[in-house]
Amino acid sequence: MTSKLDVVIMAAGKGTRMKSSLPKVLHTLAGKALVRHVVDTARHLDARHTIVITGHGADQVEAALKAACAGGGLKFARQMPQLGTGHAVQQAVPHLPDDGVVVVLSGDVPLTQTDTLQALVQACGGDKLALLTIEFDDPTGYGRIVRSPSGQVHAIVEHKDANEAQRAIREVYSGIMAVPAKRLKAWLARLDNQNAQQEYYLTDVVKFAEAEGVPVVAHKITDAAQVAGVNSPAQLADLERAYQQRRAQALMMDGVRIMDPARFDVRGELACAQDVQIDVNCIFEGRVQLGQGVKIGANCVLANCVIEAGAVIHPFTHIDGEKLGVTVGEGALIGPFARLRPGAQLGAEVHIGNFVEVKNSSMAKGAKANHLAYLGDAVVGERVNYGAGSITANYDGANKHRTVIEADVHIGSNCVLVAPVTIGAGGTVGGGSTITKSTEPGALSVARGKQVSIANWQRPTKNK
Ligand code: UD1
Ligand code: CA
Repeated sequence: MTSKLDVVIMAAGKGTRMKSSLPKVLHTLAGKALVRHVVDTARHLDARHTIVITGHGADQVEAALKAACAGGGLKFARQMPQLGTGHAVQQAVPHLPDDGVVVVLSGDVPLTQTDTLQALVQACGGDKLALLTIEFDDPTGYGRIVRSPSGQVHAIVEHKDANEAQRAIREVYSGIMAVPAKRLKAWLARLDNQNAQQEYYLTDVVKFAEAEGVPVVAHKITDAAQVAGVNSPAQLADLERAYQQRRAQALMMDGVRIMDPARFDVRGELACAQDVQIDVNCIFEGRVQLGQGVKIGANCVLANCVIEAGAVIHPFTHIDGEKLGVTVGEGALIGPFARLRPGAQLGAEVHIGNFVEVKNSSMAKGAKANHLAYLGDAVVGERVNYGAGSITANYDGANKHRTVIEADVHIGSNCVLVAPVTIGAGGTVGGGSTITKSTEPGALSVARGKQVSIANWQRPTKNK
Protein backbone atom coordinates (compact mmCIF):
# COMPACT_ATOMS: atom_id res chain seq x y z
CA MET A 1 0.00 0.00 0.00
CA THR A 2 1.38 3.41 -0.93
CA SER A 3 1.66 5.85 1.92
CA LYS A 4 0.09 8.66 -0.09
CA LEU A 5 -3.16 7.96 1.61
CA ASP A 6 -5.01 10.48 3.72
CA VAL A 7 -8.10 9.71 5.74
CA VAL A 8 -10.95 12.06 6.64
CA ILE A 9 -13.26 10.91 9.42
CA MET A 10 -16.55 12.79 9.65
CA ALA A 11 -17.58 13.08 13.27
CA ALA A 12 -19.32 16.43 13.60
CA GLY A 13 -22.93 15.25 13.48
CA LYS A 14 -25.22 15.47 16.46
CA GLY A 15 -26.57 11.99 16.88
CA THR A 16 -29.97 13.22 18.02
CA ARG A 17 -31.45 9.74 18.14
CA MET A 18 -28.97 8.56 20.78
CA LYS A 19 -30.88 10.90 23.17
CA SER A 20 -27.69 11.35 25.14
CA SER A 21 -25.56 14.23 26.37
CA LEU A 22 -22.48 12.30 25.21
CA PRO A 23 -21.48 13.00 21.58
CA LYS A 24 -22.57 10.01 19.51
CA VAL A 25 -19.10 9.03 18.34
CA LEU A 26 -17.94 8.68 21.96
CA HIS A 27 -20.45 5.98 22.75
CA THR A 28 -18.59 2.72 23.08
CA LEU A 29 -18.67 -0.53 21.19
CA ALA A 30 -16.66 -3.37 22.73
CA GLY A 31 -15.46 -0.90 25.35
CA LYS A 32 -13.98 1.52 22.81
CA ALA A 33 -15.43 4.78 21.50
CA LEU A 34 -17.01 4.40 18.06
CA VAL A 35 -14.69 6.99 16.55
CA ARG A 36 -11.66 5.22 18.00
CA HIS A 37 -12.57 2.08 16.09
CA VAL A 38 -12.51 4.20 12.95
CA VAL A 39 -9.24 5.91 13.89
CA ASP A 40 -7.66 2.49 14.55
CA THR A 41 -8.83 1.22 11.17
CA ALA A 42 -7.24 4.30 9.55
CA ARG A 43 -4.03 3.50 11.39
CA HIS A 44 -4.00 -0.02 9.95
CA LEU A 45 -4.29 1.57 6.51
CA ASP A 46 -0.99 3.37 7.15
CA ALA A 47 -2.59 6.69 6.35
CA ARG A 48 -0.25 9.64 6.03
CA HIS A 49 -2.66 12.06 7.68
CA THR A 50 -5.87 11.31 9.51
CA ILE A 51 -8.14 14.30 9.89
CA VAL A 52 -11.12 14.08 12.20
CA ILE A 53 -13.93 16.54 11.52
CA THR A 54 -15.50 17.56 14.80
CA GLY A 55 -18.46 19.80 15.58
CA HIS A 56 -21.04 18.67 18.10
CA GLY A 57 -19.17 18.11 21.37
CA ALA A 58 -15.92 18.94 19.56
CA ASP A 59 -13.93 19.65 22.73
CA GLN A 60 -14.97 16.35 24.24
CA VAL A 61 -14.36 14.32 21.08
CA GLU A 62 -10.95 15.85 20.49
CA ALA A 63 -9.91 15.42 24.12
CA ALA A 64 -10.97 11.78 24.11
CA LEU A 65 -9.04 11.05 20.93
CA LYS A 66 -5.94 12.92 22.06
CA ALA A 67 -5.91 10.96 25.31
CA ALA A 68 -6.40 7.62 23.60
CA CYS A 69 -4.14 8.16 20.60
CA ALA A 70 -1.24 10.17 22.03
CA GLY A 71 1.31 10.79 19.30
CA GLY A 72 -0.93 9.14 16.75
CA GLY A 73 -0.54 11.96 14.23
CA LEU A 74 -4.23 12.86 14.33
CA LYS A 75 -5.38 16.22 13.08
CA PHE A 76 -8.64 17.92 13.85
CA ALA A 77 -10.73 20.30 11.79
CA ARG A 78 -13.85 21.90 13.19
CA GLN A 79 -17.08 22.15 11.31
CA MET A 80 -19.33 24.86 12.78
CA PRO A 81 -22.19 24.78 11.98
CA GLN A 82 -22.78 21.39 10.36
CA LEU A 83 -24.04 21.95 6.85
CA GLY A 84 -23.74 18.45 5.46
CA THR A 85 -21.20 15.76 4.62
CA GLY A 86 -19.69 17.76 1.73
CA HIS A 87 -19.28 20.75 4.00
CA ALA A 88 -17.67 18.44 6.60
CA VAL A 89 -15.01 17.22 4.18
CA GLN A 90 -14.40 20.81 2.99
CA GLN A 91 -13.03 21.55 6.45
CA ALA A 92 -10.26 19.02 5.90
CA VAL A 93 -9.08 20.52 2.61
CA PRO A 94 -6.19 22.58 4.07
CA HIS A 95 -4.74 19.33 5.46
CA LEU A 96 -4.98 17.33 2.24
CA PRO A 97 -1.95 17.32 -0.09
CA ASP A 98 -2.80 17.20 -3.81
CA ASP A 99 -0.76 14.10 -4.52
CA GLY A 100 -2.74 11.68 -2.34
CA VAL A 101 -5.82 9.53 -2.35
CA VAL A 102 -8.41 10.49 0.26
CA VAL A 103 -10.50 7.88 2.05
CA VAL A 104 -13.64 9.34 3.62
CA LEU A 105 -15.00 7.51 6.66
CA SER A 106 -17.74 8.18 9.20
CA GLY A 107 -17.05 8.28 12.92
CA ASP A 108 -20.25 6.37 13.60
CA VAL A 109 -19.47 3.38 11.35
CA PRO A 110 -17.11 1.39 13.54
CA LEU A 111 -16.69 -2.05 12.02
CA THR A 112 -15.31 -1.49 8.53
CA GLN A 113 -12.38 -3.84 8.00
CA THR A 114 -9.00 -2.69 6.84
CA ASP A 115 -8.91 -5.14 3.93
CA THR A 116 -12.21 -3.77 2.65
CA LEU A 117 -10.76 -0.26 2.61
CA GLN A 118 -7.58 -1.52 0.97
CA ALA A 119 -9.69 -3.06 -1.77
CA LEU A 120 -11.54 0.25 -2.14
CA VAL A 121 -8.25 2.12 -2.49
CA GLN A 122 -7.17 -0.46 -5.08
CA ALA A 123 -10.41 0.17 -6.96
CA CYS A 124 -9.67 3.89 -6.89
CA GLY A 125 -6.26 3.19 -8.35
CA GLY A 126 -5.18 6.78 -7.76
CA ASP A 127 -7.35 8.27 -10.51
CA LYS A 128 -10.92 7.00 -10.13
CA LEU A 129 -13.75 7.77 -7.73
CA ALA A 130 -14.40 4.57 -5.79
CA LEU A 131 -17.56 4.11 -3.72
CA LEU A 132 -18.14 1.40 -1.16
CA THR A 133 -21.64 0.06 -1.76
CA ILE A 134 -23.93 -2.66 -0.50
CA GLU A 135 -27.39 -4.02 -1.31
CA PHE A 136 -30.02 -3.82 1.39
CA ASP A 137 -33.46 -5.42 1.39
CA ASP A 138 -34.67 -2.24 3.00
CA PRO A 139 -32.63 0.69 1.66
CA THR A 140 -34.80 3.34 3.31
CA GLY A 141 -32.86 6.43 4.32
CA TYR A 142 -29.72 5.66 2.33
CA GLY A 143 -28.31 7.29 -0.78
CA ARG A 144 -29.14 5.12 -3.80
CA ILE A 145 -26.56 4.08 -6.36
CA VAL A 146 -28.05 5.01 -9.73
CA ARG A 147 -26.48 3.17 -12.66
CA SER A 148 -26.86 3.68 -16.37
CA PRO A 149 -28.31 0.82 -18.48
CA SER A 150 -24.74 -0.35 -19.13
CA GLY A 151 -24.22 -0.64 -15.37
CA GLN A 152 -22.02 2.43 -15.06
CA VAL A 153 -22.50 4.35 -11.77
CA HIS A 154 -23.75 7.77 -12.61
CA ALA A 155 -25.21 9.31 -9.46
CA ILE A 156 -25.93 8.91 -5.79
CA VAL A 157 -29.40 10.15 -4.99
CA GLU A 158 -30.28 10.73 -1.36
CA HIS A 159 -33.45 9.03 -0.16
CA LYS A 160 -35.17 12.34 0.45
CA ASP A 161 -34.38 13.51 -3.08
CA ALA A 162 -35.17 10.24 -4.82
CA ASN A 163 -38.17 9.55 -7.04
CA GLU A 164 -40.24 6.38 -6.88
CA ALA A 165 -38.07 4.47 -9.36
CA GLN A 166 -34.86 5.49 -7.60
CA ARG A 167 -36.25 4.49 -4.23
CA ALA A 168 -36.74 1.00 -5.60
CA ILE A 169 -32.96 0.67 -6.06
CA ARG A 170 -31.51 -1.55 -3.36
CA GLU A 171 -27.85 -0.78 -3.89
CA VAL A 172 -26.85 2.02 -1.52
CA TYR A 173 -23.85 4.17 -0.81
CA SER A 174 -22.15 3.17 2.45
CA GLY A 175 -20.87 6.67 3.19
CA ILE A 176 -17.29 5.53 2.44
CA MET A 177 -15.32 6.56 -0.64
CA ALA A 178 -11.75 6.72 -1.96
CA VAL A 179 -10.98 9.60 -4.27
CA PRO A 180 -7.92 11.41 -5.70
CA ALA A 181 -7.29 14.45 -3.48
CA LYS A 182 -6.81 16.93 -6.27
CA ARG A 183 -10.12 16.03 -7.87
CA LEU A 184 -11.93 15.96 -4.55
CA LYS A 185 -10.75 19.45 -3.62
CA ALA A 186 -11.92 20.90 -6.93
CA TRP A 187 -15.30 19.19 -6.64
CA LEU A 188 -15.87 20.21 -3.03
CA ALA A 189 -15.41 23.84 -4.03
CA ARG A 190 -18.33 23.49 -6.44
CA LEU A 191 -20.92 21.88 -4.15
CA ASP A 192 -24.24 23.60 -3.54
CA ASN A 193 -27.12 22.87 -1.20
CA GLN A 194 -29.98 22.84 -3.71
CA ASN A 195 -31.61 19.67 -2.39
CA ALA A 196 -34.34 18.41 -0.11
CA GLN A 197 -32.23 18.84 3.04
CA GLN A 198 -30.48 22.05 1.98
CA GLU A 199 -27.18 20.43 2.84
CA TYR A 200 -23.87 20.28 1.02
CA TYR A 201 -23.85 16.64 -0.01
CA LEU A 202 -20.51 14.92 -0.42
CA THR A 203 -22.32 12.46 -2.66
CA ASP A 204 -22.74 15.15 -5.34
CA VAL A 205 -19.09 14.64 -6.32
CA VAL A 206 -20.32 11.70 -8.39
CA LYS A 207 -22.02 14.10 -10.80
CA PHE A 208 -18.85 16.12 -11.21
CA ALA A 209 -16.79 13.01 -11.79
CA GLU A 210 -19.14 11.88 -14.51
CA ALA A 211 -19.15 15.31 -16.14
CA GLU A 212 -15.35 15.33 -16.20
CA GLY A 213 -15.05 11.78 -17.48
CA VAL A 214 -13.47 10.50 -14.28
CA PRO A 215 -14.53 6.86 -13.92
CA VAL A 216 -16.80 6.10 -10.97
CA VAL A 217 -16.42 2.57 -9.65
CA ALA A 218 -18.44 0.77 -7.01
CA HIS A 219 -16.77 -1.71 -4.71
CA LYS A 220 -19.74 -3.72 -3.55
CA ILE A 221 -19.58 -5.81 -0.39
CA THR A 222 -22.15 -8.10 1.25
CA ASP A 223 -21.21 -7.85 4.91
CA ALA A 224 -23.69 -5.34 6.37
CA ALA A 225 -21.92 -5.03 9.73
CA GLN A 226 -18.97 -3.37 8.01
CA VAL A 227 -21.06 -0.44 6.86
CA ALA A 228 -23.62 -0.35 9.64
CA GLY A 229 -23.86 3.02 11.30
CA VAL A 230 -24.95 3.73 14.83
CA ASN A 231 -27.86 6.11 15.17
CA SER A 232 -29.73 4.81 18.20
CA PRO A 233 -29.08 2.78 21.35
CA ALA A 234 -30.86 -0.17 19.74
CA GLN A 235 -28.56 -0.09 16.70
CA LEU A 236 -25.56 0.21 18.99
CA ALA A 237 -26.66 -2.89 20.90
CA ASP A 238 -27.26 -4.82 17.66
CA LEU A 239 -23.82 -3.94 16.38
CA GLU A 240 -22.23 -4.84 19.71
CA ARG A 241 -23.81 -8.30 19.44
CA ALA A 242 -22.67 -8.68 15.84
CA TYR A 243 -19.15 -7.75 16.90
CA GLN A 244 -19.12 -10.09 19.90
CA GLN A 245 -20.47 -12.98 17.82
CA ARG A 246 -17.55 -12.48 15.46
CA ARG A 247 -15.03 -12.43 18.26
CA ALA A 248 -16.54 -15.59 19.70
CA GLN A 249 -16.57 -17.35 16.32
CA ALA A 250 -12.92 -16.46 15.72
CA LEU A 251 -11.89 -17.80 19.14
CA MET A 252 -13.91 -20.98 18.67
CA MET A 253 -12.21 -21.48 15.30
CA ASP A 254 -8.97 -21.53 17.30
CA GLY A 255 -10.36 -24.19 19.60
CA VAL A 256 -11.59 -22.13 22.53
CA ARG A 257 -14.68 -23.69 24.12
CA ILE A 258 -17.22 -20.93 24.66
CA MET A 259 -20.32 -22.22 26.39
CA ASP A 260 -22.61 -19.70 24.72
CA PRO A 261 -21.27 -17.26 22.13
CA ALA A 262 -24.36 -15.10 22.66
CA ARG A 263 -23.34 -14.54 26.27
CA PHE A 264 -19.71 -13.60 25.82
CA ASP A 265 -18.05 -10.18 25.68
CA VAL A 266 -14.54 -9.09 24.82
CA ARG A 267 -13.79 -5.42 25.27
CA GLY A 268 -10.12 -5.44 24.39
CA GLU A 269 -7.72 -8.24 23.52
CA LEU A 270 -8.18 -11.82 24.60
CA ALA A 271 -5.43 -14.34 23.84
CA CYS A 272 -6.17 -17.99 24.58
CA ALA A 273 -3.86 -21.01 24.55
CA GLN A 274 -5.18 -24.49 23.82
CA ASP A 275 -8.13 -26.04 25.64
CA VAL A 276 -9.46 -22.94 27.30
CA GLN A 277 -13.08 -23.16 28.49
CA ILE A 278 -15.25 -20.15 29.15
CA ASP A 279 -18.66 -20.45 30.77
CA VAL A 280 -21.55 -18.03 30.19
CA ASN A 281 -21.69 -14.29 30.90
CA CYS A 282 -17.99 -13.58 31.17
CA ILE A 283 -16.52 -10.19 30.25
CA PHE A 284 -12.91 -9.68 29.22
CA GLU A 285 -11.48 -6.16 29.23
CA GLY A 286 -8.14 -4.62 28.34
CA ARG A 287 -5.48 -7.28 27.71
CA VAL A 288 -6.27 -10.73 28.99
CA GLN A 289 -4.17 -13.84 28.44
CA LEU A 290 -5.47 -17.32 29.27
CA GLY A 291 -2.99 -20.19 29.40
CA GLN A 292 -3.45 -23.77 28.35
CA GLY A 293 -6.42 -25.52 29.88
CA VAL A 294 -7.62 -22.51 31.85
CA LYS A 295 -11.26 -22.68 32.92
CA ILE A 296 -13.32 -19.57 33.54
CA GLY A 297 -16.56 -20.09 35.43
CA ALA A 298 -19.82 -18.29 34.78
CA ASN A 299 -20.24 -14.56 35.41
CA CYS A 300 -16.59 -13.59 35.78
CA VAL A 301 -15.12 -10.22 34.82
CA LEU A 302 -11.42 -10.34 33.92
CA ALA A 303 -9.41 -7.26 32.97
CA ASN A 304 -5.71 -6.79 32.30
CA CYS A 305 -4.50 -10.09 33.66
CA VAL A 306 -2.53 -13.19 32.84
CA ILE A 307 -4.01 -16.52 33.91
CA GLU A 308 -1.43 -19.27 33.61
CA ALA A 309 -1.93 -22.84 32.47
CA GLY A 310 -4.38 -25.01 34.32
CA ALA A 311 -5.70 -22.30 36.62
CA VAL A 312 -9.42 -22.37 37.38
CA ILE A 313 -11.38 -19.18 37.95
CA HIS A 314 -14.63 -20.11 39.66
CA PRO A 315 -17.90 -18.21 39.04
CA PHE A 316 -18.48 -14.59 40.00
CA THR A 317 -14.82 -13.69 40.30
CA HIS A 318 -13.69 -10.16 39.51
CA ILE A 319 -10.09 -9.64 38.41
CA ASP A 320 -8.91 -6.18 37.39
CA GLY A 321 -5.21 -5.56 36.92
CA GLU A 322 -5.70 -1.98 35.67
CA LYS A 323 -2.19 -0.65 34.94
CA LEU A 324 -0.19 -2.94 37.26
CA GLY A 325 -1.70 -6.16 36.00
CA VAL A 326 -2.66 -9.34 37.80
CA THR A 327 -0.99 -12.72 37.40
CA VAL A 328 -2.58 -16.00 38.44
CA GLY A 329 -0.06 -18.84 38.51
CA GLU A 330 -0.28 -22.34 37.10
CA GLY A 331 -2.92 -24.53 38.60
CA ALA A 332 -4.20 -21.84 40.96
CA LEU A 333 -7.82 -22.00 42.13
CA ILE A 334 -9.59 -18.67 42.41
CA GLY A 335 -13.09 -17.95 43.68
CA PRO A 336 -16.01 -18.24 43.59
CA PHE A 337 -16.60 -14.59 44.53
CA ALA A 338 -12.93 -13.62 44.68
CA ARG A 339 -11.57 -10.17 43.92
CA LEU A 340 -8.05 -9.69 42.55
CA ARG A 341 -6.93 -6.09 42.20
CA PRO A 342 -3.93 -4.35 40.57
CA GLY A 343 -0.58 -5.87 41.46
CA ALA A 344 -1.89 -9.22 42.70
CA GLN A 345 0.85 -11.69 41.70
CA LEU A 346 -0.23 -15.19 42.57
CA GLY A 347 2.15 -18.11 42.19
CA ALA A 348 1.44 -21.67 41.17
CA GLU A 349 -1.25 -23.56 43.03
CA VAL A 350 -2.32 -20.61 45.12
CA HIS A 351 -5.89 -20.89 46.43
CA ILE A 352 -8.06 -17.83 46.82
CA GLY A 353 -11.55 -18.51 48.11
CA ASN A 354 -14.82 -16.68 48.46
CA PHE A 355 -14.87 -13.02 49.49
CA VAL A 356 -11.10 -12.70 49.50
CA GLU A 357 -9.57 -9.47 48.17
CA VAL A 358 -5.92 -9.30 47.11
CA LYS A 359 -4.28 -6.04 46.10
CA ASN A 360 -0.66 -5.25 45.26
CA SER A 361 0.53 -8.43 46.95
CA SER A 362 2.48 -11.46 45.94
CA MET A 363 1.65 -14.96 47.08
CA ALA A 364 4.21 -17.70 46.53
CA LYS A 365 3.53 -21.24 45.43
CA GLY A 366 0.86 -23.07 47.36
CA ALA A 367 -0.18 -20.17 49.60
CA LYS A 368 -3.87 -20.13 50.54
CA ALA A 369 -6.42 -17.57 51.64
CA ASN A 370 -9.68 -19.42 51.47
CA HIS A 371 -12.33 -17.27 53.11
CA LEU A 372 -13.31 -13.64 53.79
CA ALA A 373 -9.88 -12.05 53.89
CA TYR A 374 -7.88 -9.03 52.73
CA LEU A 375 -4.25 -8.96 51.63
CA GLY A 376 -2.87 -5.54 50.62
CA ASP A 377 0.80 -4.63 50.10
CA ALA A 378 1.82 -8.04 51.37
CA VAL A 379 4.54 -10.51 50.46
CA VAL A 380 3.28 -13.99 51.25
CA GLY A 381 5.64 -16.96 51.25
CA GLU A 382 5.18 -20.51 50.05
CA ARG A 383 2.54 -22.69 51.69
CA VAL A 384 1.28 -19.91 53.95
CA ASN A 385 -2.23 -20.48 55.25
CA TYR A 386 -4.03 -17.19 55.79
CA GLY A 387 -7.08 -17.64 57.97
CA ALA A 388 -10.67 -16.65 57.49
CA GLY A 389 -11.49 -13.04 58.26
CA SER A 390 -7.87 -11.91 58.56
CA ILE A 391 -6.65 -8.62 57.13
CA THR A 392 -3.51 -6.66 56.58
CA ALA A 393 -3.90 -3.15 58.01
CA ASN A 394 -1.66 -1.67 55.33
CA TYR A 395 -2.78 1.95 55.44
CA ASP A 396 -2.12 4.28 58.36
CA GLY A 397 -4.29 7.04 56.94
CA ALA A 398 -1.39 8.66 55.12
CA ASN A 399 0.98 5.97 53.84
CA LYS A 400 0.86 2.35 52.88
CA HIS A 401 3.17 -0.18 54.50
CA ARG A 402 4.21 -3.72 53.67
CA THR A 403 3.39 -6.90 55.48
CA VAL A 404 5.77 -9.83 55.04
CA ILE A 405 4.48 -13.29 55.84
CA GLU A 406 7.32 -15.75 55.44
CA ALA A 407 7.06 -19.34 54.21
CA ASP A 408 4.95 -21.89 56.06
CA VAL A 409 3.31 -19.38 58.39
CA HIS A 410 -0.21 -20.06 59.65
CA ILE A 411 -2.32 -17.02 60.34
CA GLY A 412 -5.41 -17.93 62.36
CA SER A 413 -8.89 -16.58 61.80
CA ASN A 414 -9.85 -12.96 62.31
CA CYS A 415 -6.33 -11.55 62.72
CA VAL A 416 -5.19 -7.99 62.01
CA LEU A 417 -1.57 -7.63 60.83
CA VAL A 418 -0.66 -3.97 61.35
CA ALA A 419 1.99 -3.05 58.77
CA PRO A 420 4.89 -2.65 58.60
CA VAL A 421 5.30 -6.07 60.14
CA THR A 422 7.01 -9.38 59.39
CA ILE A 423 5.80 -12.79 60.53
CA GLY A 424 8.88 -15.05 60.66
CA ALA A 425 9.00 -18.30 58.72
CA GLY A 426 7.04 -21.21 60.10
CA GLY A 427 5.41 -19.01 62.73
CA THR A 428 1.83 -19.24 63.90
CA VAL A 429 -0.52 -16.41 64.80
CA GLY A 430 -3.41 -17.31 67.09
CA GLY A 431 -6.93 -16.49 65.98
CA GLY A 432 -8.23 -13.03 66.86
CA SER A 433 -4.75 -11.51 67.27
CA THR A 434 -3.84 -7.95 66.40
CA ILE A 435 -0.15 -8.14 65.52
CA THR A 436 1.76 -4.87 65.70
CA LYS A 437 5.33 -6.19 66.21
CA SER A 438 7.31 -8.51 63.98
CA THR A 439 7.58 -12.12 65.15
CA GLU A 440 10.50 -14.59 65.23
CA PRO A 441 10.61 -17.60 62.93
CA GLY A 442 8.82 -20.57 64.44
CA ALA A 443 7.12 -18.49 67.15
CA LEU A 444 3.49 -18.73 68.25
CA SER A 445 2.14 -15.22 68.66
CA VAL A 446 -1.12 -14.45 70.39
CA ALA A 447 -2.25 -10.88 70.93
CA ARG A 448 -5.75 -10.70 72.33
CA GLY A 449 -7.56 -10.35 75.64
CA LYS A 450 -7.20 -13.46 77.82
CA GLN A 451 -10.34 -15.53 78.12
CA VAL A 452 -12.20 -15.28 81.40
CA SER A 453 -14.81 -17.90 82.39
CA ILE A 454 -17.00 -17.46 85.47
CA ALA A 455 -18.44 -20.71 86.70
CA ASN A 456 -22.20 -21.05 87.17
CA TRP A 457 -22.87 -17.49 86.23
CA GLN A 458 -26.53 -16.40 86.51
CA ARG A 459 -27.95 -14.28 83.71
CA PRO A 460 -30.03 -11.30 84.95
CA THR A 461 -33.78 -11.93 85.12
CA LYS A 462 -36.52 -9.49 84.11
CA ASN A 463 -37.92 -7.19 86.87
CA LYS A 464 -41.64 -7.58 87.61
C1 UD1 B 1 -24.86 9.63 4.22
C2 UD1 B 1 -24.80 9.67 2.70
C3 UD1 B 1 -25.71 8.59 2.12
C4 UD1 B 1 -25.30 7.24 2.66
C5 UD1 B 1 -25.26 7.24 4.17
C6 UD1 B 1 -24.65 5.98 4.66
C7 UD1 B 1 -24.47 12.03 2.14
C8 UD1 B 1 -25.09 13.26 1.63
N1 UD1 B 1 -25.26 10.96 2.23
O1 UD1 B 1 -26.17 9.95 4.58
O2 UD1 B 1 -25.66 8.60 0.71
O3 UD1 B 1 -26.17 6.25 2.18
O4 UD1 B 1 -24.45 8.33 4.67
O5 UD1 B 1 -24.75 5.89 6.06
O6 UD1 B 1 -23.27 12.01 2.38
N2 UD1 B 1 -21.51 14.63 9.43
C9 UD1 B 1 -20.69 15.67 9.71
N3 UD1 B 1 -21.10 16.93 9.41
C10 UD1 B 1 -22.29 17.19 8.81
C11 UD1 B 1 -23.12 16.09 8.51
C12 UD1 B 1 -22.71 14.83 8.83
O7 UD1 B 1 -19.59 15.49 10.24
O8 UD1 B 1 -22.57 18.36 8.56
C13 UD1 B 1 -21.06 13.28 9.75
C14 UD1 B 1 -22.00 12.58 10.71
O9 UD1 B 1 -21.57 12.83 12.04
C15 UD1 B 1 -21.81 11.14 10.32
C16 UD1 B 1 -21.51 11.18 8.84
O10 UD1 B 1 -21.08 12.52 8.59
O11 UD1 B 1 -20.71 10.56 10.98
C17 UD1 B 1 -22.74 10.86 7.97
O12 UD1 B 1 -23.73 11.83 8.21
P1 UD1 B 1 -25.26 11.49 8.22
O13 UD1 B 1 -26.03 12.70 8.51
O14 UD1 B 1 -25.51 10.29 9.09
O15 UD1 B 1 -25.48 11.10 6.68
P2 UD1 B 1 -26.68 10.29 6.08
O16 UD1 B 1 -27.84 11.17 5.97
O17 UD1 B 1 -26.85 9.04 6.83
CA1 CA C 1 -26.09 8.17 8.94
